[in-house]
Amino acid sequence: MWAIETRNLRKVFRPLLGGKPIVAVDNLSLKVPQGTVFGFLGPNGAGKTTTIQILIGNVYPTVGEAFVLGHRAGTLAAKRKLGFLPEKFQFHDFLTAEELLRLHGRLAKMDGALLRKRIDEVLELVGLAERRKSRIREFSKGMQQRIGLAQAILHDPDLVILDEPTSALDPLGRRRAREVVQYLKERGKTVFLNSHLLSEVERSCDEVAIIHKGRVVKQGALDDLLVNRSVVTVELKRVEARVLEAIAKVARKVQPIDERRVIAEVAEEDDVPELARAIVEAGGALLGLQAHRETLEDLFIQTVEGEDK
Ligand SMILES: Nc1ncnc2c1ncn2[C@@H]1O[C@H](COP(=O)(O)OP(=O)(O)OP(=O)(O)O)[C@@H](O)[C@H]1O
Ligand SMILES: [Mg+2]
Repeated sequence: MWAIETRNLRKVFRPLLGGKPIVAVDNLSLKVPQGTVFGFLGPNGAGKTTTIQILIGNVYPTVGEAFVLGHRAGTLAAKRKLGFLPEKFQFHDFLTAEELLRLHGRLAKMDGALLRKRIDEVLELVGLAERRKSRIREFSKGMQQRIGLAQAILHDPDLVILDEPTSALDPLGRRRAREVVQYLKERGKTVFLNSHLLSEVERSCDEVAIIHKGRVVKQGALDDLLVNRSVVTVELKRVEARVLEAIAKVARKVQPIDERRVIAEVAEEDDVPELARAIVEAGGALLGLQAHRETLEDLFIQTVEGEDK
């Protein structure tokens, strides 16, 4: 059983005031294994939030099906098993942090000592234990996002869906959010998250899907997608035309960045020593050469730009 499965999902929004229909999600099929931290990526307007809204049962797909832990999305059985932090979170702001969590706990049929204990636990996890008596309206934006995260995990759901959970967080808050994700993973939960902070995603996700114009254009384990050490920083005493020519014979992309450094992109790891040899043979004064693993940001930009061509 998959934590999330969608089959040929399509969502068309028809503007009420006329105008062209918008295809937000287009033939989207996705399988998310249980127990993974899954990054759902894509440029603005790609259809991420719409897909998430379908998964939680807020939006009906025009075509296709979606399942959450074996239950059809939107059913009570599916909703019971998931926790959700919306992108545009807005909570009852006249309540205190504690009252808000109590309300959400009650809605999830939690009660008594168990709920009290769990509220303490999640407030601690998101770093708001000391602000439990403050009203939500007195919270900063980042604090509101953190209480949202606490709310999403309160009832111990098997699947946690987070739509940009760190957009308002400072670096310490983001680290804490990563720790919460790790805590969930260690307990065998599945986390499905969407974020534009790709270095964050790279640190916490096992698997990613990149969507563009409503379709999945890349999916896989990060370790498989980012294996090759294809980007090389070359440091030279000075960058000269003949050295650039020599680099261009081995690399598929060459970009001088200042008078001493060049970034080269090679097809495979074995090309790196080849590159060093070519530079030296061309008479270049090689000072350093550093091969990097391609970053998720590199992959994202290449994938999305490749689709746009
Ligand atoms: N309720 C709606 N009515 C009409 N169009 C909508 C609605 N919700 C989303 N859309 C459109 O669907 C497309 C996808 O939007 P969506 O919010 O899913 O993108 P996203 O991938 O979450 O983007 P972002 O990274 O900016 O959050 C956009 O063109 C958007 O304008
Ligand atoms: Mg969105």
